[in-house]
Amino acid sequence: MSTPAVITTVQAMQQQSDAWRGAGLRVGLVPTMGYLHQGHLSLVERCRQESDRTVVSIFVNPLQFGPSEDLAIYPRDLDRDLKLLEEYQVEAVFHPPAEEFYPEGFSTYVEVEGLTQGLCGAFRPGHFRGVTTVVTKLFTAVRPHLAVFGQKDYQQSAVIRRLVRDLNMGIAIVVAPTVREADGLAMSSRNLNLSEAERRRAPGLYQTLCQARESIQAGERDAGRIVARMRERIGRELTDRIDYIEVVDPDTLEPVAQIESAVVIALAVRLAKARLIDNVLVEPASS
Ligand code: PAF
Repeated sequence: MSTPAVITTVQAMQQQSDAWRGAGLRVGLVPTMGYLHQGHLSLVERCRQESDRTVVSIFVNPLQFGPSEDLAIYPRDLDRDLKLLEEYQVEAVFHPPAEEFYPEGFSTYVEVEGLTQGLCGAFRPGHFRGVTTVVTKLFTAVRPHLAVFGQKDYQQSAVIRRLVRDLNMGIAIVVAPTVREADGLAMSSRNLNLSEAERRRAPGLYQTLCQARESIQAGERDAGRIVARMRERIGRELTDRIDYIEVVDPDTLEPVAQIESAVVIALAVRLAKARLIDNVLVEPASS
């Protein structure tokens, strides 16, 4: 067990990565905003399996938070994160200060069109522009061969795949399965913002997704009916502040009306202080 080296400047990160690459080693990156939980650690584990050197970036990216979002209360604890990473044989943690990463006069942004319009993009203007800009910067700082993202942020992983393809970045994007609490709630740093009562009811989100998946597997093909049933249950049991519940194509993220092939059912809801997202990928049983 050893504490990973903490690298705080882009230049030092690039030098380290170039040295590894020069020695023929495969460099993997797990981008995070810190306050790590088992979900992040499963991405780290996956990265270690697929690379020779693992870098975890910890950077709470102000660009991806809207003015009324939770940047100020986003949890941060670097010492705790480093301790958690000790047993994962991570070679480096890249943790640049915001002033280093976004210097005075910073004015270059990266934007993926289309895929970022719907789902979370419709409710969080500028969010994905912030994500694709920071991920591009993390990629040019860490110069990884591969990067691992979680399926919980399905839209984010689809957007990153498109970014890498469109800009010929030559980085393999690995999307790892969502890690869940024992009661099914998808792990997220934002779960900390749930009240006790909300936390007790929150697993209903995943149960609703599973119910929808079962109905598709039992032959339901009408996405509108599935969404209506989900809305009714979530509204009754958890919250009526539903940003969206949608059945979409896994690649284009376009809404699907009649389910004929694989779909993603994705949702986002708001509670008092937390906004929760979750999704399942569903293959309809062939008839
Ligand atoms: O998924 C996240 O935690 C963030 O969006 C990411 C990819 C680390 C970019 O800030």
